[in-house]
Amino acid sequence: MNEVIKAIQSRRTIRKFRSDPISKDAVEAILEAGLWAPSAGGRQQALFLVSEDRDANLLLGKINRNCFGGAMKNNDHEINQKQISIAEDDSLKNAFYDAPLVIYLFGSGNRYTVNDCSVCAENMILAAWSMGIGCVYVGRAEETFATEEGKAIMRRGNIPEDAKAVCCLCFGYPDGEIGEGRPRKRERIHYLK
Ligand SMILES: Cc1cc2nc3c(=O)[nH]c(=O)nc-3n(C[C@H](O)[C@H](O)[C@H](O)COP(=O)(O)O)c2cc1C
Repeated sequence: MNEVIKAIQSRRTIRKFRSDPISKDAVEAILEAGLWAPSAGGRQQALFLVSEDRDANLLLGKINRNCFGGAMKNNDHEINQKQISIAEDDSLKNAFYDAPLVIYLFGSGNRYTVNDCSVCAENMILAAWSMGIGCVYVGRAEETFATEEGKAIMRRGNIPEDAKAVCCLCFGYPDGEIGEGRPRKRERIHYLK
């Protein structure tokens, strides 16, 4: 199996992070991977807001957690027991799990915004994983940045007011066991016969 496919299959969402920062070279490599993602019409409209500001990340992580609401009570969401999420544990108050680096992705708001940001996100997540760095993709970015606190942080980062937030990528070195992914549902694949 080639290294890319190995990384794709071995990657797990990480929610338990060490507190030490990610090396500068690794942060640059992760961003470079995002820059080289495909983009609609080649327009390269996704914006990357890079934050190692723990206070800002904690503030937004708590807001994001509140946007989520309480833990889910059905088991439709059951995930990796070594990487418990806010969906399972109400006592987790920071939706960014105290990750030392959060990269927020924004699009222009055109019809391809979600697609543009999502392809950048997966490139960055896999690049990080290939360097031993874990990530959790966190949603609810639009709601988080619709708040006054979110808007203020966008202004601080020179992100245009009308940009649309798509996701929050929380990175850090994994702390402890990584755990197992759920088996993939192969019946999702359909062939046109
Ligand atoms: C669109 C999207 C939104 C997600 N939002 C969250 C989130 O808010 N919090 C979280 O802990 N994980 C979130 N995840 C991570 C998923 O829970 C995780 O990918 C899934 O449980 C499968 O685990 P794996 O990534 O280890 O294979 C999200 C993933 C995607 C693709």
